[in-house]
Parts: sequence; structure tokens; C-alpha cells
Amino acid sequence: MIDSPVPLGSCGRVTIHTHFLPVAKAHTVLTGRTIILGVTGSIAAYKAADITSRLTELGAKVFPVMTAEACRFIQPLTLQVLSRNPVASDLWKEGEGWQPGHIELADQADLLLVAPATAHCLALFAQGLAPDLLSSIHLATPAPVMLAPAMNGKMLAHAATQANLETLRARGYHFIEPDAGMLACGYEGQGKLAAVDTIVQSVKDFFANT
Ligand SMILES: Cc1cc2nc3c(=O)[nH]c(=O)nc-3n(C[C@H](O)[C@H](O)[C@H](O)COP(=O)(O)O)c2cc1C
Repeated sequence: MIDSPVPLGSCGRVTIHTHFLPVAKAHTVLTGRTIILGVTGSIAAYKAADITSRLTELGAKVFPVMTAEACRFIQPLTLQVLSRNPVASDLWKEGEGWQPGHIELADQADLLLVAPATAHCLALFAQGLAPDLLSSIHLATPAPVMLAPAMNGKMLAHAATQANLETLRARGYHFIEPDAGMLACGYEGQGKLAAVDTIVQSVKDFFANT
């Protein structure tokens, strides 16, 4: 620590801390857990930045996987910096090794969390379709799946979406229910992504109980 000789008006002398040592993180239920964070094309995709940051601070190894549509809402670079891990979004840009990157990642995961999860994502997961990286990882991973849906209230209420939710619930997937409130589309109703605090707490509860 040094004292700067530069006087700052009435504030006086400035203390500059020159030792920025990494602070040892306290152990949490998330320490060392590998979480694939799927991010899909919802207006709520920007909240994935906060989710990534919070889970990483709690000691989880977060690997963001974004759909092409999610990349229209938020830059992969944001999640890359916050997670300190590469962000994957392209099924055809695989890793260096012999094994396709998405299989390797799928094998390592302790949890596949998708937040926000679009109606389209729920449909792909329910039907077992795999046209992109996230849906391919979904089929390839043995990890439990936790979904935080976010969408317009009418999309959520639609019989097709409800049937997909029922299929996924019957399969044992974990859900973080959407909130009611003012939606980005201008309507009031259910479909708002659950609060980041709720999502982080759900992940903590999940690992505390496994
Ligand atoms: C401005 C805007 C906001 C959107 N928000 C949502 C949303 O919150 N939830 C949803 O299910 N779809 C939403 N959509 C539609 C999805 O982006 C679209 O269905 C897309 O194909 C989803 O792709 P993905 O699931 O592969 O990310 C939105 C579209 C636009 C243009």
C-alpha cells in the first residue's frame, strides 16, 4: 500500500492499494460444480449475465451455451468474461480433441440449467429434437435438467407449451416457475423469468439436496 503524494482538493491524500491479491473464496454448495448454463432467445437473456456472475462467485464452474437467437439479445463476450470460460453457440465449431466438444461438455456437467428457456427450447427438449448445440447437449448429458421458462403469457398458456411442460415435468425435470407481472411484450400476466435471486437459490437448494 502506498500513499499518493497527489493532493485531491479538499479530499486530501489518496491511499492507493497496490496489492490486488485474489481473495480465497469461501466454500459453498456450488464449489467445483460444473453447470452448463443454456441461454435462449428471450428478451430476458440479459439476466443470464447476472446469473453467470452469481453462480461463478459461489464457486461453480459455469459453461454458457447460447442459442443463435440468444446471441441477438446479449453478446457471448459478456458471459465469457463473467464465467471466465469459453461460450459455445455453434454445433459445428467443435473443440480440438477427437471427441465432439458438445459431448465432452455434456459428460462433465453436474447440472444443465437453462435460464431463460423459451417456448421453442421447451418444445425441442420435450420432443427430443437436436438441431443446435444446446438441444444436442440436452440429449447427450446425463446431468439433471433445470429450466426457468420466460415468455409472453399467451405463449405460456398455449396448449402446445402446456403439453411440453407436462412432458418435461413427467420426465423429472426441475422447474423454476415464471413470475407474474408486467411482461416485456406489454401485457401483464405470467411468463416473466423468475428473479435472479430465486434462480440462484434454486440451484443452491438443488446441490444442497443431492
Ligand atoms: C424481441 C423478442 C423477444 C422475445 N422474447 C421471447 C421470450 O421471452 N420467450 C420466448 O419463448 N420467445 C421469445 N421470442 C421468440 C424467440 O426468440 C424465438 O421463438 C426463437 O426462435 C427462439 O429460439 P431459441 O429457443 O433457439 O433461442 C422473442 C422474440 C423477439 C423478437
